Amino acid sequence: MRSRIAIIGTGYVGLTTGACFAHLGHDVVCADIDPRRIERLSQGILPIFEPGLQEIVEAEIESGRLRFVVGAAEAAKDCEFAYLCVQTPQGQDGAADLTFLQAAAAEIAHVLPAHAVVVNKSTVPVGSTKVVERVLNRHDVSVVSNPEFLREGSAVSDFLKPDRVVIGSDDPSAAARVSDLYSATSGHIIVTDPASAETIKYAANAFLATKISFVNAVAAVCEAVGADVNDVVLGIGYDKRIGHEFLRPGPGWGGSCFPKDTRAMMKIAEDAGYDFNLLKGVVVVNDEQRERMVAKVERAVGGELKGAVVAAWGLTFKANTDDLRESPAIAVISELLAKGAIVRAYDPQVSSHPAIDVGSDPYDVCDGADALIVLTEWDQFRWLDLDEVKRRLGRANIVDTRNLLDRSAAIRAGFTYQGVGR
Ligand code: UDX
Repeated sequence: MRSRIAIIGTGYVGLTTGACFAHLGHDVVCADIDPRRIERLSQGILPIFEPGLQEIVEAEIESGRLRFVVGAAEAAKDCEFAYLCVQTPQGQDGAADLTFLQAAAAEIAHVLPAHAVVVNKSTVPVGSTKVVERVLNRHDVSVVSNPEFLREGSAVSDFLKPDRVVIGSDDPSAAARVSDLYSATSGHIIVTDPASAETIKYAANAFLATKISFVNAVAAVCEAVGADVNDVVLGIGYDKRIGHEFLRPGPGWGGSCFPKDTRAMMKIAEDAGYDFNLLKGVVVVNDEQRERMVAKVERAVGGELKGAVVAAWGLTFKANTDDLRESPAIAVISELLAKGAIVRAYDPQVSSHPAIDVGSDPYDVCDGADALIVLTEWDQFRWLDLDEVKRRLGRANIVDTRNLLDRSAAIRAGFTYQGVGR
């Protein structure tokens, strides 16, 4: 069934949600407060890089199912569903800041048609559905929680082929209507109360962050005892209870969600009287991981980072995105710079950075360097010519924080190679 959907906020989540709902056949109006952003979006110019999204936005603008307008009220005045997709930044105390969410709800409160459903897509603390209900103060409008589980880099397929769709509502008919929006997708629909839906989002991200910190801690043990973490993961991953996913060791987790959501979950727990020590440990391991990567470079260059020249491949927080938010690559490079190293970086999606010298060619940044550190798992790095890299580097040292390169090939080519956990 074709529904009229307003999307409030055209950030990463809003834009993907709006474009994909249009792709599923709904009529979508996306709103933002930034007129310039709306003007550009209306021409099909996206503010973010996300595989597959550009094509869908262009096709759906063309089909007439996707429009962009300035102002939440303008979008919501004729909708059946209003999706709140505004940012919920981390506040001073670690809790999510709901200012934008409340402002968006207040703006649409007076224009929402009778029996509209307001849907919280933003990641919000437990209890926020109730907060939105209070701000709206509309007894004919239901508020539903429908958290997103979109990964940058595969957000479009995550939306169109979800593992599950979580819908939290005290109003069964509103939940059923939101569920219908997804009828063209194949995901399991889980209908629950709002508090559980909100908790599911935090618990999912906290668990995923825990898996990564766990494997990074195991990697440290592997290094100490002479085991190979890749084989350990292979060995444990075939146990169906464990699985292989999210057990890739690396420089630590980052991005716009995990750091913010783990801190928010600890705060939610603390406010409710539970001390989430497990999650605290997960964060500590993550911070240590960055230090461990810096120490590897320090070892590679002979113990003194001051004056050492380091080539860095990768700046984004992971591959297939242009997002630098809470990037472990940036954290590691910043620490190298703080310790006096001279760093030249290359990233296929980043051409400049206020604090980092960014080059435009992966080989050029290697010229004369004392070590190369691989920080993001861009596929193209795998296929670069190691002999050429060796010719360019001053000293043949590789620190591969993603275990991305072919270790044997690197050693054969004459490099001193340090990976993670092996
Ligand atoms: C995450 C969640 O996956 C998504 O469901 C949620 O809604 C938003 O947050 P995203 O931030 O796009 O998505 O990135 P994700 O692919 O989950 O990776 C997060 C971080 O963990 C990255 O820094 C990544 O490099 C790291 N990671 C991931 C690892 O180090 N090892 C892994 O095995 C997986």
